[in-house]
Amino acid sequence: METVVSGIRSTGNLHLGNYFGAIRNFVKMQYQQKCYFFIADYHSLTTHPTPADLHRNVRQVLVEYLATGIDPEQAVLYVQSDVPEVAELYLLLGMNAYKGELERCTSFKEKVRKQPDNVNAGLLTYPVLMAADIIIHKASKVPVGKDQEQHLEMARTFANRFNRMYNTEYFPEPYAYNFQEKLVKIPGLDGSTKMGKSEGEGNAIYLADDPGVIRKKVMKAVTDSGAEAGVKMSQGVENLFNLMRAVSSPDTVDHFKQSWKSGQIRYGDMKKQLAEDIIAFTTPYREKIQALEHDNHYLAKVARMGAERARESAARTIREVREIIGFKPFY
Ligand code: TRP
Repeated sequence: METVVSGIRSTGNLHLGNYFGAIRNFVKMQYQQKCYFFIADYHSLTTHPTPADLHRNVRQVLVEYLATGIDPEQAVLYVQSDVPEVAELYLLLGMNAYKGELERCTSFKEKVRKQPDNVNAGLLTYPVLMAADIIIHKASKVPVGKDQEQHLEMARTFANRFNRMYNTEYFPEPYAYNFQEKLVKIPGLDGSTKMGKSEGEGNAIYLADDPGVIRKKVMKAVTDSGAEAGVKMSQGVENLFNLMRAVSSPDTVDHFKQSWKSGQIRYGDMKKQLAEDIIAFTTPYREKIQALEHDNHYLAKVARMGAERARESAARTIREVREIIGFKPFY
């Protein structure tokens, strides 16, 4: 069994894209590997959330991950800031991380462009903290998408640099973990090929959305005039079919595929069906979210248990790393 670590952005609600892209695989993975899943709230400070927003977001993410089937007895599910050992490892790794390599990082350059008035040190050292998140558990597998590949490469650099510097093989090299499962990319409802939070209102369907909201969003989804039906499929219509493949039965998909081919399709009918199938799919999750949302006692228990288990692993690493570096207690 190998050790897997993944950080979860602590911003906002989960949508179908998150679910099919990663979470569904986390749920399976937790039974196959030693998994550490954490809510990356230290990282979120790079954008200066208010204290109320910070807490609300972390809480929502915790609730929704539990609702999707992350089992806190199986995986170690914790809040990053509950494990201050991570901050210590970040400090230690930071001593051997260089300004030049951090400035070259694509995500940093992008942030500088996006928030030119808030280019803080946390943004620059984001990959150092991410490396600490991973190697604090000596993990070798990190289930992340393509957009995180450069960060992972930097994590390998920092782990290797530590090993070389202290002539040890202490940290394993972490690599992206491609699920056995194929990643399913969920399109947006606005005709764009990606469902995402930042794509604008109406693009994404959230697991917590009420049926009425889902119906409204789906009915407004971008299609085409049908003029070219059966000839060339527009992106919007292809997106509807892709969404349908994720949530509807193969028979339903076939039915609408046939009527599209014959030029008889009525997009209104297809959307109605799609909305109902999405609702059937998300309803168990929504109900679970609603049940957990107010269960402070259970959330506290989960967070405490996660923190304890994560700290046990993290404290061991810190103890050993301090020794390797040459910190020796006088007392
Ligand atoms: N950077 C990751 C993202 O944006 C989140 C993250 C933080 C992470 N620390 C991590 C992912 C450690 C994997 C491992 O999605």
